Amino acid sequence: MKHIVIAIDGPAASGKGTLARRLAAAFNLPYLDTGLLYRVVARRVLDHCGDPSDAAMATRQALGLGRIDLERGDLRTPEVDLAASAVASIASVRAALLDFQRDFATSSGAVLDGRDIGTIVFPAADVKLFITATLDVRAERRFAERRAQKVATTLEAVRADLAARDEADRTRKAAPLRPAKDAHVLDTSTLDANRAFAAAADWVNQALAKR
Ligand code: C5P
Repeated sequence: MKHIVIAIDGPAASGKGTLARRLAAAFNLPYLDTGLLYRVVARRVLDHCGDPSDAAMATRQALGLGRIDLERGDLRTPEVDLAASAVASIASVRAALLDFQRDFATSSGAVLDGRDIGTIVFPAADVKLFITATLDVRAERRFAERRAQKVATTLEAVRADLAARDEADRTRKAAPLRPAKDAHVLDTSTLDANRAFAAAADWVNQALAKR
């Protein structure tokens, strides 16, 4: 039997990670947060005192990445946010990470979230979701997370960082952020996590019923 792949894309802090984890638990699938791959590449470049826009160095780090690297505890700092966005715009870095993402789903299917899962990584995914929310709502959410982590920042700084990363993700040449033509688009600006999950689970069940 073919294993099910659920592709979830969307901008930062749209709620896609929370939704992806819940779908993975509900449908008994492994989950991969593909943003972590770009964060690891960025972290490894910074560890070598390199420049995240150096294509040769970033690609070398992408080719050497292993599953264990995803467990590092230093991948969600503001410095890594920026560097991840820079390495993600390099086509050879993205190409080097493709096999890792595809292999992840080989044995039992998977839920993957990112920016190009439904468009590039799994264009034939069984279910494609594009999760979005207004910049103001996303900034409030990310600011609340940062405060809970006791990171000193302001709402304005968080908002500016999200806006800059979204702009870079949407306008880059390599795999720009956009919904796949056949994606279900879900705006979570006024939806809580339970309602977002209910809508997404319906789409997954419809896809399963058609197989
Ligand atoms: O999702 P997260 O914010 O952790 O991702 C970090 C960065 O990695 C994003 O800003 C984006 O530039 C990049 N990314 C990407 N493609 C993916 C996942 C993440 O370009 N599939």
